[in-house]
Amino acid sequence: MMEGVLVNNWVSRVFGCLILCLFILAQSICAQKEFVSIACCAESNYTDPNTNISWETDYRWFPDKKNCQKISKASANYTPYDEARVFRTDFSSKTCYRLDTKTGEEYLLRGTFLYYEDALRKKTSFYVSVGVTNISQVNSLEDSDVEGIFRATKEYVDFCLVKTEGAPYISRLVLRPLNGTEYLQNFSSNVLKVVRRINLGGKDGDIIKYPNDPSDRIWKPFTSSDQTATTIQGPSIKISNYTGNVSAPLQVLQTALTDQNRFELFHNDLDKGDHQYRVILYFLELETTVFPGQRVFNIYLNNERKESRFDIQGGGSNYKEVRFDVKANGFLNLTLVKASVSGLGPICNAYEIFQVFPWVQETSPNDLNGILEFKSELLVCNEQNKVLESWTGDPCLPVSWEGLSCDSINGSTVITKLSLPSMNLRGPIPPSITNLTNLYSLNLSSNDFTGEIPSFSPSSMLRSVDLRNNDLSGPLPESLAMLQHLEVMYIGCNPVAKEHSSSYNGTKLDTSTGICNSDVQGPDSTKRRIIIGSVACGSLLLTVAAGVFIVCFYRQKLMPQGIFNRKGFKGYPMMTKKNGGLIFSIPIVEEIVVKSICIQTFTLVDIEAATQNYKTLIGEGGFGSVYRGTLLDGQEVAVKVRSATSTQGTREFENELNLLSTICHENLVPLLGYCSENDQQILVYPFMSNGSLQDRLYGEAAKRKRLDWPTRLSIALGLTHLHTYAGRCLIHRDVKSSNILLDQSMTAKVADFGFSKYAPQEGDSGASLEVRGTAGYLDPEYYTTHHLSDKSDVFSFGVVLLEIISGREPLNLRKPRNEWSLVEWAKQHARETNIDEIVDPSIKGGYHAEAMWRVVEMALLCVEPFSAYRPCMADIVRELEDSLIIENNASEYMRSIESSGSLVLERKIVIPSTPKDDSPILTQPLPPPEPR
Ligand SMILES: *[C@@H]1O[C@H](CO)[C@@H](O)[C@H](O)[C@H]1NC(C)=O
Ligand SMILES: *[C@@H]1O[C@H](CO)[C@@H](O)[C@H](O)[C@H]1NC(C)=O
Ligand SMILES: *[C@@H]1O[C@H](CO)[C@@H](O)[C@H](O)[C@H]1NC(C)=O
Ligand SMILES: *[C@@H]1O[C@H](CO)[C@@H](O)[C@H](O)[C@H]1NC(C)=O
Ligand SMILES: *[C@@H]1O[C@H](CO)[C@@H](O)[C@H](O)[C@H]1NC(C)=O
Ligand SMILES: *[C@@H]1O[C@H](CO)[C@@H](O)[C@H](O)[C@H]1NC(C)=O
Repeated sequence: MMEGVLVNNWVSRVFGCLILCLFILAQSICAQKEFVSIACCAESNYTDPNTNISWETDYRWFPDKKNCQKISKASANYTPYDEARVFRTDFSSKTCYRLDTKTGEEYLLRGTFLYYEDALRKKTSFYVSVGVTNISQVNSLEDSDVEGIFRATKEYVDFCLVKTEGAPYISRLVLRPLNGTEYLQNFSSNVLKVVRRINLGGKDGDIIKYPNDPSDRIWKPFTSSDQTATTIQGPSIKISNYTGNVSAPLQVLQTALTDQNRFELFHNDLDKGDHQYRVILYFLELETTVFPGQRVFNIYLNNERKESRFDIQGGGSNYKEVRFDVKANGFLNLTLVKASVSGLGPICNAYEIFQVFPWVQETSPNDLNGILEFKSELLVCNEQNKVLESWTGDPCLPVSWEGLSCDSINGSTVITKLSLPSMNLRGPIPPSITNLTNLYSLNLSSNDFTGEIPSFSPSSMLRSVDLRNNDLSGPLPESLAMLQHLEVMYIGCNPVAKEHSSSYNGTKLDTSTGICNSDVQGPDSTKRRIIIGSVACGSLLLTVAAGVFIVCFYRQKLMPQGIFNRKGFKGYPMMTKKNGGLIFSIPIVEEIVVKSICIQTFTLVDIEAATQNYKTLIGEGGFGSVYRGTLLDGQEVAVKVRSATSTQGTREFENELNLLSTICHENLVPLLGYCSENDQQILVYPFMSNGSLQDRLYGEAAKRKRLDWPTRLSIALGLTHLHTYAGRCLIHRDVKSSNILLDQSMTAKVADFGFSKYAPQEGDSGASLEVRGTAGYLDPEYYTTHHLSDKSDVFSFGVVLLEIISGREPLNLRKPRNEWSLVEWAKQHARETNIDEIVDPSIKGGYHAEAMWRVVEMALLCVEPFSAYRPCMADIVRELEDSLIIENNASEYMRSIESSGSLVLERKIVIPSTPKDDSPILTQPLPPPEPR
């Protein structure tokens, strides 16, 4: 009998428990149904056993696993699941996660930024935006959360990180529907950034969140250093007779702060400047013995009385919530004072402070759809394109996609410029481009676009179209003539059908020859002109002997023009066409012919006349001697003559001739011509009036006039094009300051391509028997392994950067032993953060410390002993560009970061630990220096 009861009891307990469990489970699954929880970089989807929340990985958005970082165990929020995705974005400064929403519903969106481990980690600062509304800046190395509450305006919302410095990162992102709360009451469209969400009277360290808060808000306890206030608890108190929605969870309401007379909640860490805030207070009477009228108090917000004689039980219920909208600048003072008629002091259970951000309108729907269509059409043939991959979130806001410019027209944001030159894009030009009706400038030059030129609608705003250097064919669309605003159009270097371009709406055609890359509209651009860059190679060939200037007919995609023109650097030598009106001509490109007309041939007699029988010797190298001379037309030249004793000259001669006759770039010393007669081998270059960089840094010329820092920086930047001159990466193999010449405008020009090679491609062995280079500049890895890569030039480039910074020679055996090698010496000082010691004394005070730091850091990365640690040229370009911008805008920059209060100039350089024996240049016998 006894037993039966016991068993019965036991069974019913188990059963009851089971039902309870199922109930809880069902409940949590239900509540979670609409939760979106993203664990960035997590190995796989998982369910958190504590909360039952299902987390999914973010590979759907970013399939790349390379930019994942472990979370530091020092992080307060460390859990083994967490990782950080670090956006070392190459192109875009904006990266967005796009999440599905239901239009009109309210949500909270919360990003969590956890401290991650990275020895090389730099100062990081980025904005966080919900939609395109920036709501917060993350710039500390500590863990932080950014949460915004919004009402969805579309079927999706973007959560974006917008870089200002360093690499943005994120560990978790959650989207929660906020059912039944009224945060956005009376707001048509705003984002509320959570500034505080406080559970008054909560126990220290007792954070209330999901599942206790079904909306997964995070309520932090109030840690009071204060006063006479006391906490009260009412764990059994329930809300009664209340008809509205209760926005705070009961567990939060069941604790409160009270005081006999008054208490003050003061926050002085809010954003400076006038900002709008919404403050919500939650009250639940926790003492059952208190009746209406017994506890009455006044509520002040920043010294303004917001509520008089406030009585929680005044409305027949024991619960009230109130919200205040207030403008504040830097602080909020919430004070509750007992009213004179009251017996008891004030009480408050919880409160929230939100900063209100007006919802910024996204790009106009027409342009948005147009560009999204354009992107997806372009992706069909260009899946791996990094720039297209970087196009996430809104095309224009908060910052526009790489290659796009936007404007605000009649209050809506539209796309006005599309510039994607030299991006290896292939396939047809997406027809959806014609749907971008506000576009006035289009540049798709130097890609591999095929097919026909799309037909733009007559209402198009296009003023400038550049389609040079593609493989566009077919007729010129008639519609071009209808474009009202078109001022200039380039279609040179495309096989656009000749017969179609020869007659065009009755306009006479000018089929005179021109130059593919150099035809540019004249200073007066009021006249419409369609310029078809003409390259009539055949006829030019005949006249080449008379030509004085070099004609470079290589394809323009060889030139990293985007970078230069975008930032306002000097562009390419440009010719102005004098003829007004419409100019048409026939574009034909035949690269075989092209080669032969780039270079003049000189006779020995010409050379002797130009150099006055080798009168002025200006230099000597491995190849032979260099003389100064003047051509018949007055151009000053440098003439390099292979010496009779030189053994290696012939091969270098041919190498240089072959390379320089196919490529031409502003930062290369161009080859004017050559002479190969009577076993003489002579190369003719334009004379560079400002000598070599070496001279200007620490040679004779340096004594006359020092180079200032901004000039040094732009010289360095000029050199970075080293690896992008040709479609294939060209390795110079002998980068050094004496091979860098400066023309009259101090533009850097790399000379001496005698040793240069194209980078090994797949299938090439890569290893070569002979190691070339100059002591002091030679990549130790290349020296020891004989394996050549573009990183070998990066090493040499790093040495040149150090020379530019320090004005010292790379190798000077006359100095004390520890200063022999510039690389070693600079590393030593950088480790001690002794930047002033490294910098050339003659530019002291003439540089911006931030810009200098960046260059020093970059230089030291370049000379890492292991090539894998070295950056690639594209990274270097970016960093140097940034430095130059900082340098040039130093004052403006200072202002901007001072106002955000994050000026950090003292930085420690962390050099990754590498094996001790890290300088074969010093510890191993030097390679035989080239006799040059
Ligand atoms: C992870 O979860 C997401 C969303 O629930 C799903 O789309 C995805 O297929 C899951 N991935 C794996 C590997 O299970
Ligand atoms: C949202 O709230 C309404 C009533 O306030 C309720 O009927 C509905 O089931 C809730 N939806 C969710 C997903 O919780
Ligand atoms: C906060 O406001 C109260 C009431 O207006 C006032 O008495 C108090 O001095 C204020 N506190 C601070 C720190 O300004
Ligand atoms: C709720 O309302 C009922 C009837 O109106 C009243 O008797 C009761 O005291 C009220 N409860 C509270 C806690 O105010
Ligand atoms: C342009 O936009 C319209 C309407 O959005 C769409 O129907 C059409 O397909 C688009 N045209 C192109 C070429 O994408
Ligand atoms: C040709 O040009 C004339 C005037 O220059 C213009 O009115 C006409 O519309 C053009 N026709 C076409 C087909 O472009």
